[in-house]
Amino acid sequence: MSERVISPASTADDDRFDRLFRPDSLDEYVGQDKHRQNLKVFVEAAKRRREPVDHTLFCGPPGLGKTTLAHIVAREMGVNLHATSGPAIEHKGALAGLLTKLEARDVLFIDEIHRLTPAVEESLYPAIEAFKIDIMTGDGPYATTIQLALKPFTLIGATTRTGLLTAPLLSRFGYVVRLDFYPVEDLQRIITRSARLIEVPIDDAGARELAARARGTPRVANRLLRRARDFAEVLGTGRITVKIASMTAERLEIDAAGLDEMDRRLLMVIIDHYDGGPVGIDTIAAALSEPRDTIEDVYEPYLLQQGFLGRTPRGRIATRKAYEHLGKPMPVKGTPQGDLFS
Ligand SMILES: Nc1ncnc2c1ncn2[C@@H]1O[C@H](COP(=O)(O)OP(=O)(O)O)[C@@H](O)[C@H]1O
Ligand SMILES: [Mg+2]
Repeated sequence: MSERVISPASTADDDRFDRLFRPDSLDEYVGQDKHRQNLKVFVEAAKRRREPVDHTLFCGPPGLGKTTLAHIVAREMGVNLHATSGPAIEHKGALAGLLTKLEARDVLFIDEIHRLTPAVEESLYPAIEAFKIDIMTGDGPYATTIQLALKPFTLIGATTRTGLLTAPLLSRFGYVVRLDFYPVEDLQRIITRSARLIEVPIDDAGARELAARARGTPRVANRLLRRARDFAEVLGTGRITVKIASMTAERLEIDAAGLDEMDRRLLMVIIDHYDGGPVGIDTIAAALSEPRDTIEDVYEPYLLQQGFLGRTPRGRIATRKAYEHLGKPMPVKGTPQGDLFS
């Protein structure tokens, strides 16, 4: 089985390391300074007023630190975090069960909140707006609705794209945090910190080399670090040097831009089969035999952010940078594709 090392989505093994590497406080959380400073103020203000933090939504591609931030907010508030996910809450009753367990100012963390069923989502509205919930009792003609008061709590949602949320749900969050890909310097700090936690010696240049290949994503950075530790221990002296770091990337077929085989295949499909595009996302998904959602949530954001991929009303295009990176000749001027680049 080949595991896509660079895939930002998490595996069971990651879960263990995610927890190990997870910073406990906003001070330890690397980067995203604007959001970090804001969250500090919101947490401090809520604590002084002895109120829950406003409902908060974290959004961004997998592996950027959404779950981590949710845990940090609860920890800094000194309250419990109750974690669940959109698909896990199967019906209204299950939601009511979760909500009635919350103590004052606790955090209810709903991962993949865009995947709530419409019925569950609707029963969430009064809970987050007025801290009350309607519960049905009895059957048939004897059925009645009773209203239960909830303790004031904080809902923290996480999602890959805000566009996936319904407008009514989105509008109920007091604060929306859009997480960006991390610059290399931040990833280097994350790698250095994680290396200390798993007690593997690493050179600055080694950490920087891994950081440059980590796709702007802390989870990928930590995963590369673990693989580099394997290479260092088996083929090196145990220390992650720049040589070990580049060997790790090479063996995992991650190129200098941090793209892996899947990223390159995606660009190649557009270039080789569709003359550089524009080509629809569904066509790309079919050509790669990957679900459309995975392409939109996992692969595309980084390629778009790095300028390898462009979005037009008629579909995706491979950019000049993609052609150059893959060593492909650019389409000739005067053709529709050539004109896209002029
Ligand atoms: N800003 C950060 N500083 C340090 N480590 C981070 C940061 N963001 C994410 N990580 C680490 O990366 C891994 C993935 O983060 P996680 O919060 O699970 O991502 P997400 O929920 O967005 O998929 C975790 O081990 C986490 O501790
Ligand atoms: Mg998560």
